Amino acid sequence: MAARGIHHVGIAVEDLEAAIETYERLFGAEVEHREALVDQGADVALLNVGDSRIELLAPRGADTPVGRFLEKRGAGMHHLAFEVDDVGAELARLAGAGAELVDERPRRGILGHEIAFVHPAATGGVLAELVGRG
Ligand code: CO
Repeated sequence: MAARGIHHVGIAVEDLEAAIETYERLFGAEVEHREALVDQGADVALLNVGDSRIELLAPRGADTPVGRFLEKRGAGMHHLAFEVDDVGAELARLAGAGAELVDERPRRGILGHEIAFVHPAATGGVLAELVGRG
């Protein structure tokens, strides 16, 4: 089964308000949704750019996945999210294909969607997220 498309591109930022303003001003992005993703340790803004989405992630503390990412690599692209029909089925298929996973089973992510992360080692160095439909 193939992914349906790119659900969003995740960008790690230091300052969420400044980043929103920048994407609005430079690319005409519009805020679709804002959420505190507590288990991911990030405050998130989902922006629409035409038919596409950007997810801006600011850390809720230094000792969070995004906080550690910023410390190590600085602001920039954090992950690529693929839209799939069934996150659990896709995780099982990827595990069967030998892909290294971050999440063994789906959890709740942005907009209440089922999500799961796939390790960058499996994807040429880019953290991948699976986002369920509906
Ligand atoms: Co994401």
